[in-house]
Amino acid sequence: MAKQKMLSVAAAAMTCLMLSGQVMAHGDVTPQGVDTGNLTQLGEEWVDENPYRGTDNKDNAEAVTIGSSAYNQNCARCHGLEAISGGIAPDLRELESDYDGDEWYIYRVRNGAVRDGAVYMPKMADYLSQEALWAIRTYVESRRAEM
Ligand code: HEC
Repeated sequence: MAKQKMLSVAAAAMTCLMLSGQVMAHGDVTPQGVDTGNLTQLGEEWVDENPYRGTDNKDNAEAVTIGSSAYNQNCARCHGLEAISGGIAPDLRELESDYDGDEWYIYRVRNGAVRDGAVYMPKMADYLSQEALWAIRTYVESRRAEM
């Protein structure tokens, strides 16, 4: 069962790769810039936990708004519109909204997913700021809460 799932994820990732190849051919590979000016700025060092988490956090609502559009522009083509996976890449709402979830999230957005030279997921942190990526995480967490 687990193996079957792995295979289907791999197949889906291949499809995704081909799709993104097409996008690249149209010169549309540059991830969209995200204006995070209204959020608390975090500096160069990566923090280890979502700094905008929790509805009582003063940045939370703004982060969800910014993250929603940033997600749909930069992640949705693989992870699914509105954070609902169509099967091409994992459903990000499944990640726990806690420290462990954050650790895995940071790992993936900084390292991407590259196997045998094939890029299944680009290193998104090379294109998007830490603030933008935490805003996206905050948006996905809000979608998880609605799940
Ligand atoms: C070109 C397609 C693509 C894009 C664009 C993309 N991803 Fe991914 N992502 C993947 C694939 C494929 C995996 C699964 C990698 C694996 O398991 O080896 C993945 C895995 C992840 C994971 C780990 C999920 C888990 O349950 O293990 C996170 C977190 C993640 N992506 C976040 C993002 C975010 C945030 C963005 C946008 C800023 C993004 N990704 C953009 C393809 C993509």
